[in-house]
Amino acid sequence: MKEVLGYIDDNNDKFLGELVEFLKFPSVSTRERNKKDVLDCANWLKDNIISSGFETVEVIETSGHPIVYAEWLGAGADAPTVLIYGHYDVQPEDPINLWKSPPFEPTVRDGKLYGRGTADDKGQVFAHVKGAESHFKKNGKLPVNVKLLIEGEEESGSTALMEFLPKNADKLKCDTILISDTSWFADEIPSIVYSLRGIAVIEMTLTGPNRDLHSGQYGGAVPNPANELCKLIAKLHDEDGKVTIKDFYTNVVELGAEETKALESLPFNEKDYTEELGLNGLTGEKGYSTVLRASSRPTLDINGMFSGYTDEGHKSIIPSSATAKISMRLVPDQTWQEITDKAISHIKSLVPDFMHVEIHGHHGGNPVIAAIDSPGVKAASIALETAFGFKSVNMREGGSIPIVEMFQAELKAPAVLMGLGLDGDNIHSPNEKFNLSHYFGGIKASALFLEEFAKVSK
Ligand code: BES
Ligand code: MN
Ligand code: MN
Repeated sequence: MKEVLGYIDDNNDKFLGELVEFLKFPSVSTRERNKKDVLDCANWLKDNIISSGFETVEVIETSGHPIVYAEWLGAGADAPTVLIYGHYDVQPEDPINLWKSPPFEPTVRDGKLYGRGTADDKGQVFAHVKGAESHFKKNGKLPVNVKLLIEGEEESGSTALMEFLPKNADKLKCDTILISDTSWFADEIPSIVYSLRGIAVIEMTLTGPNRDLHSGQYGGAVPNPANELCKLIAKLHDEDGKVTIKDFYTNVVELGAEETKALESLPFNEKDYTEELGLNGLTGEKGYSTVLRASSRPTLDINGMFSGYTDEGHKSIIPSSATAKISMRLVPDQTWQEITDKAISHIKSLVPDFMHVEIHGHHGGNPVIAAIDSPGVKAASIALETAFGFKSVNMREGGSIPIVEMFQAELKAPAVLMGLGLDGDNIHSPNEKFNLSHYFGGIKASALFLEEFAKVSK
């Protein structure tokens, strides 16, 4: 193992150079105009994985963006198999004017690599490719069998992978699913995430008059869809910050006292958290702490909203329509289909008769609970501690990775979420970054995980 870790130390520059190449592709999965960039990125990744030492590597076409798949089963049928999952697609870069260096021209400043996808998830998933490479180059083999599945549409709901997975459960058969696509609880506190929130996404448009109208000529007499959308959305929470959708909480499993205590004893400083975000105060569901609100309770948020005139200056109109994009974060045992249906029928019941409504569900994913005592979790905590020199904690994450619940159900193997990011990495935001120490440490953690997993599985 010493030689493998030495190879990593000796090759930092090469690993950084390759990650920079990977990051230059604007592989934004949600935008049609980047379809070719997503495909080019998949092909580049395939070539890189081949040069890293995997022999069986394919770019698999799907109904959406391609899946990059590789395997090395040279450890033999009796040895354990690790399925490593991640995504090479990224979120849109906008608002572009807030980036200090261009999002697809990765730049190092102050020990951090800036660019879209650095932390979410190209940097994290690539650490695993380079971890495996380090074993291949030093030992000519891996300590366990490895399957690599890197998809191209996690950021838009993993729809194609959700079709692919049940049909390919045999191909993906494994003993554990290793994922690095989450963050640490704080600096110097590596974290193994044992729960992810689910997500349900809907979009609605209210339409009033059949065209924009002069707001003086007609104002006061005709329904304004923007006003009505605001009124409607205001009704979706009550004064205690609870979501008012009928039966929204029916399937929510409350945390036990012990788990609540464990989560609330993680070193969280509410003042620092508030200040770091430039806020004067926090808000949320009454009766729950910030840590629980952001990880263990279901939510409803507007993600985007538009209506009327939003360009420079002012235009006096009553807009013809108003749209809101809404997501709900879900916790066990809510399901995304159930919540999508409940939200749609509840919202329809709130629309006044004089408005037209068009409302539909998008993608979604179910909440996840992963074992905290699986062999993979043991291997991950040793790997993180050895690579970074800090003990890891177990925590719940508020974000979602839509395919994970389905992985566990279809493959009947536990997921291990060995994240490498930090909350301050600005994922989905301008100036996304990944600390180089986390990247190089992550490569070591990946290499160590494979070694440890072979031991703990014996
Ligand atoms: N890597 C994130 C999930 C995540 C977010 C982990 C925050 C840790 C902290 C993932 O790429 C993501 O953004 N998922 C989306 C899924 C959605 C678009 C279906 C999310 O959570 O919004
Ligand atoms: Mn991600
Ligand atoms: Mn993301």
